[in-house]
Amino acid sequence: MAELTWETKKAISPSKAVLELDSVIYPQGYGYPQDKPHNRVILGDNLAVMSALIPEYEGRIGLIYSDPPFYTNRRYPARIGRGEDSRRPSEWELAEGYPDHWSNPNAYLDMLYPRLVLMHRLLAPTGTLYLHLDWHANAYARLLLDEIFGVERLLNEIVWVYHGPSPIRSAFNRKHDTILVYTKSERYTFNVDAVRQPYDENTVKTFASSARAGFGKVPNLERGKVPEDWWYFPVVARLHRERTGYPTQKPEALIERILCASSNADDLVADFFAGSGTTAVVAAGLGRRYITNDASWRSLHTTQSRLATRTIEPFVIQAVAGAEHSFDTSGAASQQTYRTPGPVKLARADNQLVLSLDDELSTRLEYWEVDPDWDGQLFRSAVQVGRQRNKKTIQNIVQLPDVPGERPVCVRWIDVNGERTQLQLARPKN
Ligand SMILES: C[S@@+](CC[C@H](N)C(=O)[O-])C[C@H]1O[C@@H](n2cnc3c(N)ncnc32)[C@H](O)[C@@H]1O
Repeated sequence: MAELTWETKKAISPSKAVLELDSVIYPQGYGYPQDKPHNRVILGDNLAVMSALIPEYEGRIGLIYSDPPFYTNRRYPARIGRGEDSRRPSEWELAEGYPDHWSNPNAYLDMLYPRLVLMHRLLAPTGTLYLHLDWHANAYARLLLDEIFGVERLLNEIVWVYHGPSPIRSAFNRKHDTILVYTKSERYTFNVDAVRQPYDENTVKTFASSARAGFGKVPNLERGKVPEDWWYFPVVARLHRERTGYPTQKPEALIERILCASSNADDLVADFFAGSGTTAVVAAGLGRRYITNDASWRSLHTTQSRLATRTIEPFVIQAVAGAEHSFDTSGAASQQTYRTPGPVKLARADNQLVLSLDDELSTRLEYWEVDPDWDGQLFRSAVQVGRQRNKKTIQNIVQLPDVPGERPVCVRWIDVNGERTQLQLARPKN
């Protein structure tokens, strides 16, 4: 078999990375505080993260969806702001999203190769990898995957086609991505009945008019057909309700088809290039457990907000210990005990604890959450509020669950620039 080689190619053995726990999130308070989370959102370089997971998860992950940078040599800004009008892109506020810049092709392959090796190790014997790329690097990736998984383990080369504007005038518009699908063994999960589609109207009419159509074989028209290996789903730019502002976000319907086909309820699904967290959101909705990881703060915040406001299973937030990206909540603000008047007010009304943010603060926030029983170490989030895309302000008042004891309340928020702040508030006396 042909094998891809380049000057700097080397097998990398897993490093000794360790993950530190930052918080436990109970979306909308479900399961607070007793449920044990089975889901993880992890901040950090995925090489270190996967290395840290190998001792516990080698051979245990049912499905990995991977959507890495495509080797485009571009920067992808994120859209941030407050209720921006999607029809007026010139008014959008832009911030750092993630880079896809490489000094040469070797640098890109040096990134991709060891990560694919670790994904292969993490996959269960019945597991499947979906690697999402486009024309820039998919030919290289196919050779790498042939080497790592074995040529015979290529299950499909899926083509995702879409529409959209393009400045190209000297070639055909490039409007498809390629998803390479490899299984760990010949005994893999594939739920064909979970992804069947209705037959096209013309096909149904043809069979109704002639029993001899289709070379004499009459398909089960009611059951639907097995989808082809080319899929049409509109891009997220056209899906106003799904849009988070995170660049290159993938449509939920695309991920849903992948998860329905190649995983079962309670299976563990992972995404180590998580972006806006689409895989985790879809996995939770389909009753799968998930591990989701990205190196960028903005990704973590977007994913956290999406999961906290759209799902109900608890999850932990972790980071690679000692890495540049580790959490820093030890700043002066986090040590301070705020009393009213301040930007945040904690009061009792009808014997309920109510927390409110002032108007100025609430126009600057993307997301906020509350630990009503702060032990000074592990943040347990029982209440969360995310800003809706089309709204200029965020909901700024919440009722807290009744927790016995005297411990303070802790509030965390993420502002539109991606900065995280934490405040501690004394609990008002009864
Ligand atoms: C194409 S985007 C993923 C988009 C995602 N599928 C979605 O639906 O939003 C690629 C992501 O990979 C992340 N990334 C790039 N290199 C990484 C690394 N070494 N470790 C972890 N994440 C990385 C980037 O921060 C970016 O969020």
